[in-house]
Amino acid sequence: MNDQQEQNARILIVDDTPKNVQILGTILKQKGYRINVAGNGLQALKVVEKIIPDLILLDIMMPELDGFETCKRLKASQQTKDIPIIFLTARTDTEDIVRGFELGAVDYVTKPFKSTELLVRVRTHLDLKFSKDLITKASNERKELLHVLCHDLSNPFNGMISALNMIEDYSMFEDFKEHLISAAENGLDTIQLVRNMRALEDHKLELEVINLSEAIAKSYFLLSDRFSEKQIELEVNVDAYLNIIAERASFINSVMNNIFTNALKFSYHYSKIIVEARQTEDYAEISIRDFGIGMSEKLLNDLFDVSKATSRAGTDGETGTGFGMPLIEKFIKAYGGAIEIFSKQKKEHPRDHGTEIKLRLKIEPLA
Ligand SMILES: Nc1ncnc2c1ncn2[C@@H]1O[C@H](COP(=O)(O)OP(=O)(O)OP(=O)(O)O)[C@@H](O)[C@H]1O
Ligand SMILES: [Mg+2]
Repeated sequence: MNDQQEQNARILIVDDTPKNVQILGTILKQKGYRINVAGNGLQALKVVEKIIPDLILLDIMMPELDGFETCKRLKASQQTKDIPIIFLTARTDTEDIVRGFELGAVDYVTKPFKSTELLVRVRTHLDLKFSKDLITKASNERKELLHVLCHDLSNPFNGMISALNMIEDYSMFEDFKEHLISAAENGLDTIQLVRNMRALEDHKLELEVINLSEAIAKSYFLLSDRFSEKQIELEVNVDAYLNIIAERASFINSVMNNIFTNALKFSYHYSKIIVEARQTEDYAEISIRDFGIGMSEKLLNDLFDVSKATSRAGTDGETGTGFGMPLIEKFIKAYGGAIEIFSKQKKEHPRDHGTEIKLRLKIEPLA
């Protein structure tokens, strides 16, 4: 835990005795911690609906909802189960302490509070919590790398297999040569993409000027089998000279590819996907629209969060992992751009449903 992290740590004090709150608050504030206070268990549960603290100091004896019950409820909720809880006990009552540990508390502090002891315990558990968060983040990043390898590398291989299957004799090879080369290049691009994701983690992604229509055409070409499988038409209204600032391999293979894959997956047969781009003085606004099943408000809110389960089966039962969108957002941010999503669900808007992804990307500065 670095000083910055410690300074920014937020601690929730839950105690019904104002005197205790005051003592704890004074000791913790002196260290620079940010403090929230709840006067009882019910209030504490209300507070955590809005703010997720890094640590909770929880009194046991409280009216209405006591510390044990509060702890139980905090541990039962997905949003709050990982917040470390330190119990505050009036006496060294071993039974209470054992029960606290059984319910998932990480530690206890006895009253009257000794400032040094309290601070050492708080610091230790904050440190542990931040280390855990870091491990979770690293593990999610590994999962994302695996996702890219499996998800995006399967496209070129499928492309090669279908091209090879169509070749019945050697004379046909020439017709499919371009397809095969392109699929193999895409495989290499995906390997480059994984390298880029590593670079992204180290903040070393190298941006370049790329032609938008060409990138869209390339991504479409790689997915052309999937477009034909569902008989979906792609309509592109993009100025042939529009150049954007991004990184080629990730833009084609991750951003466009994932957006198209999603649009295809959640569209019906014989539908359409429309790509349009508008240019302002210093950026391009790219819109990718489908007329598929759409998304609920809740799904839209969770879309970029890898810890939330957003993945659904497509209209033909296609499966996924839920890593596509968070990855797109990461790359768009790394390009210095922005992403917005608008969606209308079919069940609420039977005549006017679908999803629109809006990307705002920097454009090549005019010479
Ligand atoms: N165009 C879309 N129309 C409707 N729902 C969508 C669309 N794009 C994304 N979603 C919803 O968001 C979820 C998450 O999308 P994301 O691309 O992150 O993962 P996925 O498509 O499920 O898996 P993967 O990308 O690994 O194949 C989807 O499963 C779906 O529920
Ligand atoms: Mg996807």
